[in-house]
Amino acid sequence: ETSTLILAIETSCDETAAAVIENGRYVRANAVASQIETHKLYGGVVPEIASRQHVEQMTIVMEKAMREAGVTFQDLTAVAVTEGPGLVGALLVGVNAAKAVAYAHSLPLVPVHHLAGHIYANRLVHDVKYPLLSLIVSGGHTELVYMPEEGVYELIGETRDDAVGEAYDKVARTLGLPYPGGPAVDQLAQTGEASLEFPRAWLEEGSYDFSFSGLKSSVLNTLHNATQRNVELAREDVACSFQASVVDVLVTKTAAAAKAYDVEQVLLAGGVAANQTLREAMETKMAAEGRQLLVPPLWLCTDNAAMIGAAADVAYRSGARADLDLNAKPGLAL
Ligand code: KG4
Ligand code: ZN
Repeated sequence: ETSTLILAIETSCDETAAAVIENGRYVRANAVASQIETHKLYGGVVPEIASRQHVEQMTIVMEKAMREAGVTFQDLTAVAVTEGPGLVGALLVGVNAAKAVAYAHSLPLVPVHHLAGHIYANRLVHDVKYPLLSLIVSGGHTELVYMPEEGVYELIGETRDDAVGEAYDKVARTLGLPYPGGPAVDQLAQTGEASLEFPRAWLEEGSYDFSFSGLKSSVLNTLHNATQRNVELAREDVACSFQASVVDVLVTKTAAAAKAYDVEQVLLAGGVAANQTLREAMETKMAAEGRQLLVPPLWLCTDNAAMIGAAADVAYRSGARADLDLNAKPGLAL
Protein backbone atom coordinates (compact mmCIF):
# COMPACT_ATOMS: atom_id res chain seq x y z
CA GLU A 1 0.00 0.00 0.00
CA THR A 2 1.31 3.42 -0.91
CA SER A 3 1.65 5.99 1.82
CA THR A 4 -0.42 9.16 1.91
CA LEU A 5 -0.01 12.58 3.48
CA ILE A 6 -3.25 14.52 3.35
CA LEU A 7 -4.03 18.12 4.27
CA ALA A 8 -7.67 18.16 5.40
CA ILE A 9 -9.90 21.20 5.85
CA GLU A 10 -13.20 21.48 7.75
CA THR A 11 -15.43 24.57 8.01
CA SER A 12 -18.98 23.17 7.96
CA CYS A 13 -20.20 24.92 11.11
CA ASP A 14 -18.39 27.03 13.72
CA GLU A 15 -14.93 25.44 13.80
CA THR A 16 -12.21 26.50 11.37
CA ALA A 17 -10.03 23.41 11.20
CA ALA A 18 -7.07 22.03 9.29
CA ALA A 19 -5.11 18.82 9.86
CA VAL A 20 -2.31 16.83 8.30
CA ILE A 21 -2.91 13.07 8.37
CA GLU A 22 -0.43 10.38 7.43
CA ASN A 23 -1.73 7.08 6.03
CA GLY A 24 -5.23 7.83 7.28
CA ARG A 25 -4.29 7.06 10.86
CA TYR A 26 -1.45 9.16 12.15
CA VAL A 27 -2.30 12.74 13.17
CA ARG A 28 0.74 14.83 12.23
CA ALA A 29 -1.08 18.08 13.09
CA ASN A 30 -4.59 19.07 14.10
CA ALA A 31 -5.37 22.80 14.30
CA VAL A 32 -8.80 24.10 15.32
CA ALA A 33 -9.98 27.69 15.78
CA SER A 34 -13.28 27.58 17.65
CA GLN A 35 -15.83 30.35 17.30
CA ILE A 36 -17.82 29.31 20.36
CA GLU A 37 -16.96 32.44 22.36
CA THR A 38 -18.39 34.64 19.58
CA HIS A 39 -21.59 32.64 19.03
CA LYS A 40 -22.15 32.36 22.79
CA LEU A 41 -23.11 36.06 22.75
CA TYR A 42 -26.06 35.18 20.50
CA GLY A 43 -27.07 31.89 22.14
CA GLY A 44 -26.34 29.88 19.00
CA VAL A 45 -24.39 29.78 15.75
CA VAL A 46 -25.02 32.85 13.56
CA PRO A 47 -24.29 31.66 9.98
CA GLU A 48 -23.16 35.03 8.59
CA ILE A 49 -20.73 35.57 11.46
CA ALA A 50 -19.46 31.99 11.10
CA SER A 51 -18.61 32.59 7.43
CA ARG A 52 -16.75 35.81 8.18
CA GLN A 53 -14.70 34.26 10.96
CA HIS A 54 -13.81 31.30 8.74
CA VAL A 55 -12.47 33.77 6.17
CA GLU A 56 -10.34 35.45 8.85
CA GLN A 57 -9.04 32.18 10.32
CA MET A 58 -8.72 29.78 7.38
CA THR A 59 -5.21 30.66 6.19
CA ILE A 60 -3.88 31.05 9.73
CA VAL A 61 -5.20 27.64 10.77
CA MET A 62 -3.99 25.95 7.61
CA GLU A 63 -0.49 27.38 7.98
CA LYS A 64 -0.46 26.38 11.63
CA ALA A 65 -1.27 22.77 10.71
CA MET A 66 1.41 22.68 8.01
CA ARG A 67 3.99 24.16 10.40
CA GLU A 68 3.11 21.76 13.22
CA ALA A 69 3.33 18.81 10.86
CA GLY A 70 6.66 20.08 9.59
CA VAL A 71 5.71 19.55 5.96
CA THR A 72 5.52 21.63 2.80
CA PHE A 73 2.78 21.57 0.16
CA GLN A 74 5.19 19.62 -2.06
CA ASP A 75 5.16 16.76 0.46
CA LEU A 76 1.38 16.31 0.26
CA THR A 77 -0.42 13.50 -1.57
CA ALA A 78 -3.76 15.33 -1.70
CA VAL A 79 -5.86 18.07 -0.17
CA ALA A 80 -9.26 17.10 1.26
CA VAL A 81 -12.23 19.19 2.32
CA THR A 82 -15.71 18.82 3.81
CA GLU A 83 -18.07 19.50 0.89
CA GLY A 84 -21.24 19.08 3.00
CA PRO A 85 -23.57 18.95 4.78
CA GLY A 86 -23.42 22.17 6.80
CA LEU A 87 -23.89 25.91 6.56
CA VAL A 88 -23.41 26.88 2.92
CA GLY A 89 -21.45 30.09 3.57
CA ALA A 90 -19.23 28.32 6.08
CA LEU A 91 -18.59 25.32 3.80
CA LEU A 92 -17.68 27.62 0.91
CA VAL A 93 -14.69 29.06 2.77
CA GLY A 94 -13.12 25.63 3.27
CA VAL A 95 -13.99 24.45 -0.23
CA ASN A 96 -12.38 27.52 -1.78
CA ALA A 97 -9.28 27.25 0.40
CA ALA A 98 -8.86 23.60 -0.61
CA LYS A 99 -9.35 24.42 -4.28
CA ALA A 100 -6.73 27.16 -4.07
CA VAL A 101 -4.19 24.75 -2.54
CA ALA A 102 -5.03 22.02 -5.05
CA TYR A 103 -4.66 24.43 -7.98
CA ALA A 104 -1.50 26.17 -6.75
CA HIS A 105 0.33 22.92 -5.97
CA SER A 106 -1.22 20.61 -8.58
CA LEU A 107 -2.66 18.30 -5.92
CA PRO A 108 -5.64 15.95 -6.18
CA LEU A 109 -8.74 17.38 -4.47
CA VAL A 110 -10.75 14.92 -2.35
CA PRO A 111 -14.32 15.79 -1.29
CA VAL A 112 -15.43 14.43 2.09
CA HIS A 113 -18.87 14.04 3.68
CA HIS A 114 -18.93 15.57 7.17
CA LEU A 115 -20.60 12.50 8.70
CA ALA A 116 -18.07 10.13 7.13
CA GLY A 117 -15.54 12.27 8.98
CA HIS A 118 -17.32 11.84 12.31
CA ILE A 119 -17.44 8.05 11.78
CA TYR A 120 -13.81 7.75 10.68
CA ALA A 121 -12.63 9.77 13.69
CA ASN A 122 -12.73 6.36 15.37
CA ARG A 123 -10.21 4.97 12.90
CA LEU A 124 -7.56 7.37 14.21
CA VAL A 125 -7.61 5.66 17.58
CA HIS A 126 -9.23 2.24 17.18
CA ASP A 127 -9.16 -0.83 14.98
CA VAL A 128 -12.39 -0.59 13.07
CA LYS A 129 -14.01 -3.85 11.86
CA TYR A 130 -16.85 -4.33 9.41
CA PRO A 131 -19.78 -4.73 9.33
CA LEU A 132 -20.37 -2.00 11.89
CA LEU A 133 -23.06 0.36 13.08
CA SER A 134 -22.41 4.01 13.83
CA LEU A 135 -24.53 6.40 15.85
CA ILE A 136 -23.74 10.00 14.95
CA VAL A 137 -25.04 12.51 17.45
CA SER A 138 -24.23 16.21 17.17
CA GLY A 139 -25.75 19.67 17.03
CA GLY A 140 -26.97 19.05 13.50
CA HIS A 141 -27.25 15.27 13.31
CA THR A 142 -28.82 12.18 14.82
CA GLU A 143 -28.15 9.32 12.45
CA LEU A 144 -27.74 5.57 12.56
CA VAL A 145 -25.45 4.42 9.77
CA TYR A 146 -24.81 0.78 8.86
CA MET A 147 -21.49 0.10 7.14
CA PRO A 148 -21.24 -3.38 5.57
CA GLU A 149 -17.68 -2.54 4.49
CA GLU A 150 -15.19 0.28 4.27
CA GLY A 151 -16.50 3.36 2.48
CA VAL A 152 -20.06 2.04 2.14
CA TYR A 153 -22.76 3.89 4.11
CA GLU A 154 -26.37 2.87 4.59
CA LEU A 155 -28.54 5.36 6.46
CA ILE A 156 -30.97 3.23 8.49
CA GLY A 157 -32.36 5.85 10.87
CA GLU A 158 -32.35 9.59 11.43
CA THR A 159 -34.14 12.28 13.37
CA ARG A 160 -37.47 13.46 12.02
CA ASP A 161 -37.17 16.83 13.73
CA ASP A 162 -34.52 18.16 16.15
CA ALA A 163 -31.02 16.75 16.37
CA VAL A 164 -30.02 15.54 19.86
CA GLY A 165 -27.50 18.35 20.33
CA GLU A 166 -30.11 20.86 19.23
CA ALA A 167 -32.52 19.56 21.90
CA TYR A 168 -29.72 19.86 24.48
CA ASP A 169 -29.00 23.42 23.40
CA LYS A 170 -32.67 24.46 23.59
CA VAL A 171 -33.27 22.85 26.97
CA ALA A 172 -30.07 24.49 28.23
CA ARG A 173 -31.27 27.88 27.13
CA THR A 174 -34.57 27.43 29.01
CA LEU A 175 -32.64 26.37 32.09
CA GLY A 176 -30.61 29.55 31.82
CA LEU A 177 -27.42 27.72 30.87
CA PRO A 178 -24.89 29.09 28.36
CA TYR A 179 -24.35 27.92 24.76
CA PRO A 180 -23.33 25.27 23.80
CA GLY A 181 -25.83 23.65 26.11
CA GLY A 182 -24.76 20.02 25.93
CA PRO A 183 -21.83 20.14 28.35
CA ALA A 184 -23.75 22.44 30.74
CA VAL A 185 -26.87 20.23 30.87
CA ASP A 186 -24.67 17.16 31.20
CA GLN A 187 -22.84 18.67 34.16
CA LEU A 188 -26.03 19.86 35.88
CA ALA A 189 -27.64 16.44 35.34
CA GLN A 190 -24.85 14.77 37.35
CA THR A 191 -26.15 16.45 40.50
CA GLY A 192 -29.84 15.62 39.93
CA GLU A 193 -32.24 12.70 39.90
CA ALA A 194 -34.38 11.40 37.04
CA SER A 195 -37.54 12.06 39.08
CA LEU A 196 -39.61 13.58 36.26
CA GLU A 197 -41.39 11.53 33.59
CA PHE A 198 -40.51 12.91 30.17
CA PRO A 199 -41.71 11.24 26.96
CA ARG A 200 -39.67 8.82 24.89
CA ALA A 201 -40.47 8.79 21.19
CA TRP A 202 -40.20 5.16 20.08
CA LEU A 203 -42.12 5.82 16.83
CA GLU A 204 -43.45 2.86 14.77
CA GLU A 205 -42.49 -0.67 15.68
CA GLY A 206 -39.11 -1.47 14.17
CA SER A 207 -38.27 2.12 13.20
CA TYR A 208 -34.73 3.32 13.81
CA ASP A 209 -35.77 6.94 13.35
CA PHE A 210 -35.66 9.46 16.19
CA SER A 211 -37.75 12.41 17.35
CA PHE A 212 -36.73 14.84 20.06
CA SER A 213 -39.10 17.78 19.55
CA GLY A 214 -41.82 16.23 21.75
CA LEU A 215 -39.34 15.70 24.55
CA LYS A 216 -38.00 19.23 24.16
CA SER A 217 -41.54 20.71 24.28
CA SER A 218 -42.41 18.62 27.29
CA VAL A 219 -39.38 19.93 29.18
CA LEU A 220 -40.15 23.53 28.20
CA ASN A 221 -43.82 23.14 29.22
CA THR A 222 -42.91 21.58 32.55
CA LEU A 223 -40.59 24.48 33.35
CA HIS A 224 -43.14 27.04 32.15
CA ASN A 225 -46.00 25.54 34.20
CA ALA A 226 -43.86 25.37 37.32
CA THR A 227 -42.99 29.05 36.99
CA GLN A 228 -46.64 30.00 36.48
CA ARG A 229 -47.79 28.04 39.51
CA ASN A 230 -44.88 29.19 41.61
CA VAL A 231 -43.79 25.60 42.11
CA GLU A 232 -40.13 24.99 42.92
CA LEU A 233 -38.56 22.64 40.38
CA ALA A 234 -35.01 21.50 40.91
CA ARG A 235 -33.20 22.40 37.67
CA GLU A 236 -30.78 19.53 38.14
CA ASP A 237 -33.68 17.05 38.25
CA VAL A 238 -35.08 18.51 35.03
CA ALA A 239 -31.66 18.18 33.37
CA CYS A 240 -31.21 14.64 34.69
CA SER A 241 -34.71 13.52 33.63
CA PHE A 242 -34.27 15.04 30.17
CA GLN A 243 -30.91 13.31 29.77
CA ALA A 244 -32.35 10.00 30.97
CA SER A 245 -35.00 10.14 28.25
CA VAL A 246 -32.45 11.00 25.54
CA VAL A 247 -30.00 8.30 26.57
CA ASP A 248 -32.73 5.67 26.95
CA VAL A 249 -33.97 6.20 23.38
CA LEU A 250 -30.48 6.42 21.84
CA VAL A 251 -29.21 3.28 23.58
CA THR A 252 -32.37 1.20 23.02
CA LYS A 253 -32.63 2.01 19.30
CA THR A 254 -28.92 1.57 18.67
CA ALA A 255 -28.95 -1.79 20.46
CA ALA A 256 -31.96 -2.96 18.44
CA ALA A 257 -30.29 -1.96 15.16
CA ALA A 258 -26.99 -3.57 16.20
CA LYS A 259 -28.87 -6.80 16.82
CA ALA A 260 -30.88 -6.66 13.59
CA TYR A 261 -27.76 -6.00 11.50
CA ASP A 262 -25.70 -8.38 13.60
CA VAL A 263 -22.65 -6.13 13.95
CA GLU A 264 -19.69 -6.77 16.20
CA GLN A 265 -18.77 -3.12 16.61
CA VAL A 266 -20.83 -0.04 17.42
CA LEU A 267 -19.22 3.37 16.91
CA LEU A 268 -20.28 6.54 18.67
CA ALA A 269 -19.47 9.81 16.94
CA GLY A 270 -20.23 13.54 16.97
CA GLY A 271 -20.26 16.23 19.64
CA VAL A 272 -22.88 14.57 21.85
CA ALA A 273 -20.65 11.47 22.05
CA ALA A 274 -18.75 13.59 24.59
CA ASN A 275 -21.65 12.90 26.97
CA GLN A 276 -20.40 10.69 29.78
CA THR A 277 -23.84 9.32 30.71
CA LEU A 278 -24.48 8.29 27.10
CA ARG A 279 -21.04 6.68 26.84
CA GLU A 280 -21.51 4.69 30.01
CA ALA A 281 -25.06 3.54 29.23
CA MET A 282 -24.06 2.52 25.70
CA GLU A 283 -20.96 0.71 26.96
CA THR A 284 -22.98 -1.25 29.56
CA LYS A 285 -25.66 -2.24 27.03
CA MET A 286 -23.22 -3.27 24.30
CA ALA A 287 -21.04 -5.23 26.71
CA ALA A 288 -24.13 -7.10 27.93
CA GLU A 289 -24.96 -8.03 24.34
CA GLY A 290 -21.42 -9.03 23.42
CA ARG A 291 -20.70 -6.10 21.15
CA GLN A 292 -17.72 -3.78 21.19
CA LEU A 293 -18.33 -0.05 21.61
CA LEU A 294 -15.80 2.35 20.09
CA VAL A 295 -15.82 5.99 21.15
CA PRO A 296 -13.25 8.57 20.11
CA PRO A 297 -11.58 10.82 22.70
CA LEU A 298 -13.26 14.20 23.28
CA TRP A 299 -11.03 16.14 20.87
CA LEU A 300 -12.14 13.85 18.05
CA CYS A 301 -15.86 13.97 18.99
CA THR A 302 -16.47 17.65 18.26
CA ASP A 303 -15.80 19.09 14.81
CA ASN A 304 -12.17 18.85 13.67
CA ALA A 305 -10.21 18.27 10.48
CA ALA A 306 -8.29 15.18 11.62
CA MET A 307 -11.47 13.15 11.19
CA ILE A 308 -11.91 14.59 7.69
CA GLY A 309 -8.36 13.51 6.87
CA ALA A 310 -9.07 10.00 8.14
CA ALA A 311 -12.17 9.70 5.93
CA ALA A 312 -10.29 11.33 3.05
CA ASP A 313 -7.65 8.61 3.10
CA VAL A 314 -10.31 5.97 2.45
CA ALA A 315 -11.96 8.14 -0.22
CA TYR A 316 -8.60 8.92 -1.89
CA ARG A 317 -7.61 5.25 -2.08
CA SER A 318 -10.95 4.38 -3.67
CA GLY A 319 -10.42 7.05 -6.29
CA ALA A 320 -12.70 9.86 -5.12
CA ARG A 321 -11.64 13.14 -6.75
CA ALA A 322 -13.25 16.54 -7.28
CA ASP A 323 -12.55 19.08 -10.01
CA LEU A 324 -11.89 22.74 -9.40
CA ASP A 325 -15.60 23.42 -9.93
CA LEU A 326 -16.37 21.65 -6.61
CA ASN A 327 -19.16 23.46 -4.80
CA ALA A 328 -20.40 23.45 -1.20
CA LYS A 329 -23.36 21.07 -0.73
CA PRO A 330 -25.31 22.17 2.38
CA GLY A 331 -27.84 19.28 2.23
CA LEU A 332 -25.53 16.53 1.00
CA ALA A 333 -26.82 13.00 1.70
CA LEU A 334 -24.47 10.30 2.98
O1 KG4 B 1 -20.15 17.62 16.40
P1 KG4 B 1 -20.33 18.98 16.94
O2 KG4 B 1 -19.13 19.70 17.50
O3 KG4 B 1 -20.92 19.95 15.86
C1 KG4 B 1 -21.90 19.59 14.97
O4 KG4 B 1 -21.55 19.02 13.88
O5 KG4 B 1 -23.09 19.84 15.29
O6 KG4 B 1 -21.49 18.88 18.06
C2 KG4 B 1 -21.88 19.98 18.86
C3 KG4 B 1 -23.07 19.58 19.72
C4 KG4 B 1 -23.72 20.76 20.46
O7 KG4 B 1 -25.12 20.71 20.29
C5 KG4 B 1 -23.35 20.50 21.92
O8 KG4 B 1 -24.30 21.02 22.82
C6 KG4 B 1 -23.27 18.99 21.96
O9 KG4 B 1 -22.66 18.64 20.73
N1 KG4 B 1 -22.47 18.48 23.09
C7 KG4 B 1 -22.98 17.72 24.09
C8 KG4 B 1 -21.92 17.49 25.01
N2 KG4 B 1 -20.80 18.12 24.52
C9 KG4 B 1 -21.17 18.71 23.35
N3 KG4 B 1 -24.22 17.23 24.29
C10 KG4 B 1 -24.43 16.50 25.40
N4 KG4 B 1 -23.48 16.26 26.33
C11 KG4 B 1 -22.22 16.72 26.17
N5 KG4 B 1 -21.29 16.46 27.10
ZN1 ZN C 1 -20.05 17.72 13.26
